Amino acid sequence: QFIPVILAGGKGERFWPLSRQDRPKQFLCLDGSSRSLLQSTADRLLTLGGGWDHLWVITSSQISEGVREQLPDLPSANLLIELQGRDTAAAVAWASLEIKKRYGEEAVIGFFPADHWIADQEVFAYTLSAATQLATSTQAIVTLGIKPTFPSTGYGYIEQGEKIGSFNNLPAYHVNRFTEKPDRETAENFLSTGRFSWNSGMFVFRAGVVLEELRTHAPEIITPLEQSVPDIYPQLPKKSIDYALMEKTSLAYVLPVEFGWDDLGDWNAIERLLKKDDHPNVELATHVGLDTQGAIVYASNPDDVIVTIGLEDVVIVRDRNATLIVKKDRTQEIKQVLKTLQSDP
Ligand code: GDD
Ligand code: MG
Repeated sequence: QFIPVILAGGKGERFWPLSRQDRPKQFLCLDGSSRSLLQSTADRLLTLGGGWDHLWVITSSQISEGVREQLPDLPSANLLIELQGRDTAAAVAWASLEIKKRYGEEAVIGFFPADHWIADQEVFAYTLSAATQLATSTQAIVTLGIKPTFPSTGYGYIEQGEKIGSFNNLPAYHVNRFTEKPDRETAENFLSTGRFSWNSGMFVFRAGVVLEELRTHAPEIITPLEQSVPDIYPQLPKKSIDYALMEKTSLAYVLPVEFGWDDLGDWNAIERLLKKDDHPNVELATHVGLDTQGAIVYASNPDDVIVTIGLEDVVIVRDRNATLIVKKDRTQEIKQVLKTLQSDP
């Protein structure tokens, strides 16, 4: 049995001011469709066959009401609510424990971020079925590897080792090394060897296998959870699954995938998705641009008019009481600025 779990507890601060505390990134429609990132992720997973009964979501209490509104068909027993987000290691550990309780050790679990864009649904389904076969027949912690296109410092890197076989005609490889968010120089070195892929952030494994690996490599997270949830949840160490488990386990395998993937990490991703070659700017607003190129312009209110003159490579976002104007290569710094604001305006 394959149980997909959506990791939906992140904040997505780099999309501020469109993302706010009560309206994080996964609730936004960013890919030009009328479904939010969370809803599109659920739609995609539902086509894998299990239906709503076997789809799970883990999120934090601050936004759990929003999740219910966005996914009204999700059974409430399949919605895990963290008292406070403790990053993805705790989320994976708790969800895996709950799934083991309901379906047993042999259940194959897939974890899926809620902030991805995937081009080809059929290839996605096919790849997931290969990952499930691999996880069923071995002790594998399966990762899906994306061919890297630039030395990003925002992703995990997977070094491909020996080929161990084919599943659904897709070759699978042992992972020699997993490095989460390397610095620029390391990322450049990785790319030049040709042996690395980006970690897509999706993981597939059997419940029993991941729990055993967590007991070995992250006892500080799994042991308290095995004793008492939810009271201790806020005291759990805040660590991502990539640092807590993936960099340490020797059971990692990678399936190189080709379904067209993008991590909708910041406004620049919107440009990759929506940019038309014959147009100088990406306009999600009434925009009058004189001598303006490479701008991404967004306004929540379609009546707002934004005028730019002589600008290049900027992001302009207007939402309710806030306006953001930032150079495209500095969108990472939005997070820092938000820390200095008294409250999320
Ligand atoms: N339930 C829950 N609780 N979900 C969370 C929490 C939490 O505390 N923190 C983050 N998430 C969710 C986010 O909403 C997102 O869907 C997913 O977990 C991944 O978290 P991100 O914060 O977006 O991670 P990342 O993008 O920096 O890095 C991960 O994804 C990359 C690919 O997009 C890593 O796995 C990288 O190795 C990977 O390359
Ligand atoms: Mg992400």
